[in-house]
Amino acid sequence: MKKFLALFLAVMMLLALVSCGTTTEVKTSESQAATQAQTAGTDKAADSNKLVMGTNASFPPYEFTDDEGEIVGIDAEIAAAIAERLGKELEIKDMEFDSLLTAVAGGSIDFVMAGLTVTDERKQQVNFSDTYATGVQVIIVPEGSEIKTVDDLEGKTIGVQSGTTGDIYCTDDYGEENVKQFANGALAVAALKNGQVDCVVIDNEPAKNFVKANTGLEILETEYAVEDYAIALAKESTDLFEDINGALKELKADGTIDEIIAKYIKAE
Ligand code: ARG
Repeated sequence: MKKFLALFLAVMMLLALVSCGTTTEVKTSESQAATQAQTAGTDKAADSNKLVMGTNASFPPYEFTDDEGEIVGIDAEIAAAIAERLGKELEIKDMEFDSLLTAVAGGSIDFVMAGLTVTDERKQQVNFSDTYATGVQVIIVPEGSEIKTVDDLEGKTIGVQSGTTGDIYCTDDYGEENVKQFANGALAVAALKNGQVDCVVIDNEPAKNFVKANTGLEILETEYAVEDYAIALAKESTDLFEDINGALKELKADGTIDEIIAKYIKAE
């Protein structure tokens, strides 16, 4: 009987040991998996042979669709040059402007290039590359409008593209009730022609394009705001951030960026 008890105890102890060992092992491999997943998250975009850019292709000359329905423009070409440097294939996704930052922060696209202005508020959500272009918020009015400067905007109805800096500044400065949001700049300009809004606040280069494509409109001389354009990435994409910034630096140094900009923006 004593022998039996001793055997029983020995078996129990062995079982306890084994199960204890298993638990620790599970714990280790779980934490290993977690670390691996975390690194995979960081490196996913950098390691993949494809780069997915999100944009809103209604912003000529930075991004627009050509006659073949392909997305072209300054941003599309700079992105293609970056992808080539990094030895990756570029895919461009056309999206609503105001869903771009959530998409990149959530990882469904790798980066945003959309004539996107660097702001402190956006920096809370994403990381910005070095800047590659300058933008100016300008005011489009019908020719002969009584709006002559920024000071005349008070109490007027202002058309903007939803979620843009033009939208944010005008809402802050003149109140939500005076700002009408549109899905893109072209729709805001159409509303200006119809008399639904008194002016449109938008970036200068798209403004020039819209004014050229429509008769009876002009751009005021006064600049509403001067801004920097940069590429936005998820905060976790630290490796891709380095890669993209490195490529951008080279493309600036060898004149590629200037060349692309000059192709789309003719000096006056
Ligand atoms: N620069 C402005 C901003 O960042 C407008 C950009 C609009 N871009 C576009 N592709 N629709 O808010």
